[in-house]
Amino acid sequence: MVRIGIIGGSGLYHLVENSKLKKIDTPFGPANVYLGMFGGEEIAFIPRHGEKHEIPPFKVNYKANIYALNMLGVERIIASNAVGAINPELMPGTIVLPHDFIDLTKCRDGTFYNGKTEIIVRGRRIKGVVHISMTPYTYCPEIRSALMSAANQLGIHLVDKGVYVCTEGNRFETPAEIRAMSIMGGDIVGMTGCPEAALARELAICYASVSIVTNYAAGVGGEKKLTHQEVLDIFSRKLEDLSRLLASSITLIPRERSCVCKDALAEFIDH
Ligand code: HPA
Repeated sequence: MVRIGIIGGSGLYHLVENSKLKKIDTPFGPANVYLGMFGGEEIAFIPRHGEKHEIPPFKVNYKANIYALNMLGVERIIASNAVGAINPELMPGTIVLPHDFIDLTKCRDGTFYNGKTEIIVRGRRIKGVVHISMTPYTYCPEIRSALMSAANQLGIHLVDKGVYVCTEGNRFETPAEIRAMSIMGGDIVGMTGCPEAALARELAICYASVSIVTNYAAGVGGEKKLTHQEVLDIFSRKLEDLSRLLASSITLIPRERSCVCKDALAEFIDH
């Protein structure tokens, strides 16, 4: 069984040396998963945008990716993504561990429970109308703690709180949209964190994400044009820190789950 999955965002396409590609057919479409050793154990890695960044955020098959990890028996997912800073204190290059999100996507399929597809989680059939809870923790507290401890041990600066706002994309936001997101309480903005985090919760998989600030969001750093190249440039400068952080957090994530994520489906399991 593979216990941990990592989903890499923009700029993180290869993580595992000598990995083996496993193509997994899920009820929601195919997913490409790379299996290999990382952080001292076998993990499953999915480059969210494909190996050559060919899949834009709105075309990522989030359901196939998360379900494929579920089929492998993955219980914990660490995701990474590039974000713009809504909060001006988060300068480019900062690593943020969001504690909550606001989903402003518009056209994405955000649930496994469509009333038709049979969902199996660790051998148990899930029946009926399912409404999972995103409280008391939006992201898994055990993975977040492991990431904070790993950052401490490695001397990597990490901001351990932040509200992630997810937009549909594909364009960057307007300054007015960013002002609105700031008033709503957003700190960082990206295009891939949703519905991924909630889909993991829908299968009772622990999920946390690490965000790399690659730019000030529209209007935050003055009237500058935003480019995808700058996103990739800043991300590539932080890639080594990110990789070290992920590897050592894996060694700190407890084998037994004590968090509430594992019980997300308790009331919906067909006995
Ligand atoms: N907006 C949305 N997504 C992003 C940004 C941004 O400014 N930077 C990196 N991903």
